[in-house]
Amino acid sequence: MALNIVILAAGKGTRMHSDKPKVLHSIAGKPMLQHVVDTAANLQPTKIIVVYGHGGEMVPQALAQSSALFILQEPQLGTGHAVQQTLPQLDNDSITLVLYGDVPLIRQDTLQKILADQKSMTLLTQYLDNPKGYGRIVRDAAGKVTRIVEEKDATPEQRQIQEINTGILAAPTGMLREWLGNLRNENAQGEYYLTDIVAMAVTQGVKINTVQPAHAWEVMGINSKIQLAELERLWQLEQADRLLIQGVTLADPARLDIRGQLICERDVEIDVGCIFEGQVHLAKGVKIGAYSVIRNTRIAANTQVAPYSHIDRATIGEQCHIGPFARIRPGSILHDDVHIGNFVEIKNSEIADNSKANHLSYIGDATVGSRVNIGAGTITCNYDGANKFRTVIEDDAFIGSDTQLVAPVTVGRGATIGAGSTITKDAPAGELTLSRAKQVSVSGWQRPTKKK
Ligand code: UD1
Ligand code: MG
Repeated sequence: MALNIVILAAGKGTRMHSDKPKVLHSIAGKPMLQHVVDTAANLQPTKIIVVYGHGGEMVPQALAQSSALFILQEPQLGTGHAVQQTLPQLDNDSITLVLYGDVPLIRQDTLQKILADQKSMTLLTQYLDNPKGYGRIVRDAAGKVTRIVEEKDATPEQRQIQEINTGILAAPTGMLREWLGNLRNENAQGEYYLTDIVAMAVTQGVKINTVQPAHAWEVMGINSKIQLAELERLWQLEQADRLLIQGVTLADPARLDIRGQLICERDVEIDVGCIFEGQVHLAKGVKIGAYSVIRNTRIAANTQVAPYSHIDRATIGEQCHIGPFARIRPGSILHDDVHIGNFVEIKNSEIADNSKANHLSYIGDATVGSRVNIGAGTITCNYDGANKFRTVIEDDAFIGSDTQLVAPVTVGRGATIGAGSTITKDAPAGELTLSRAKQVSVSGWQRPTKKK
């Protein structure tokens, strides 16, 4: 049967104290609503419909890349009213799954369990020691669900019920359409409750299934920055556990942040305070030093990254030594056994095997050969204020310290550049090139003294 997914995201999020709509606040570097839309998309529904309200067009704009339909709910008269707004878009011969933009970490396998029985209604419920604030699942003597009662409408006895409504449910769309048409708002909050459809279904003899999530964090909703921070930590610990189970060594699983996907091969070691963003792949034996930030990068086997290094959109070979305090920027390709030391910035450059830039350099828009040594303080002057140019340094070249290579320029194979040179013309292979003023000593020169 076709699947339609409705995501409710119209709520104000008053307790976030933010101008940004609640569902656009991020967990693990990605807006909450985007997490839900991505998980929804994995179920290959025919439609994803997001109901938005507060924050105006910011919500559809932030998710412009997704294939979701956006429907404005104005005013917001309750969860049932929110789903009513989507009815013109829903396909009758489908099953509708209702999700929430502020319940970001719901998992695909839990949703699959909810969708197993396509002819009945299925509720995602949970047993809580402290069920306060939630709608309660009311069952009859035989244990069959009869209705959901909201906390504010519940009797003292009903408030004792520990099985709560997570809000997530699925029902055949045709039936849902009929039930939503019959909703009333005669309740403590004067709202159209989606939860009232349960009693209607029971009256019609429709079976109500209940399933539970595998993890409590899957159904945690976000209403405040405290809850946002708590869920962030739970999710990070969950990701750290996954790495530990695979055999990754983490100096402290509580001090790791993965905002995307980190794939590690065997015997990877990660020290404290590291942040991984986007897609990061660490091959066998890679070691990452403390407080490094690595984004959209592949690092090959046995490379060591020393502390405080920043690496963004780079490809790094085997046995390299990076950092401490190295910055490798987008478009950089380091081959094997390359050494990039402290305060060295590499941008959009390719550096071949066994080459070194160990101290205080800027290498931008350069093609560097094998076994090249780049001395301390070398700068590729790649930008004339309007255009960028490439620097080519061929195999076995030696660049003396404090050299400026004014691009476009080529340093030939095996060439040596004398320290302190400004190189504006190509340096021939195998020769020493330097552009240094002759050293003079002025005998008898006196330092100036203060005038009286
Ligand atoms: C709802 C459920 C309750 C459940 C709880 C779980 C109803 C009537 N009650 O209660 O049984 O235990 O969630 O957290 O459904 N929203 C809209 N438009 C609206 C109202 C709400 O989009 O007009 C969205 C909100 O942005 C939020 C979600 O629906 O993401 C839930 O709304 P909220 O008002 O927080 O529901 P609760 O009262 O907590
Ligand atoms: Mg409410």
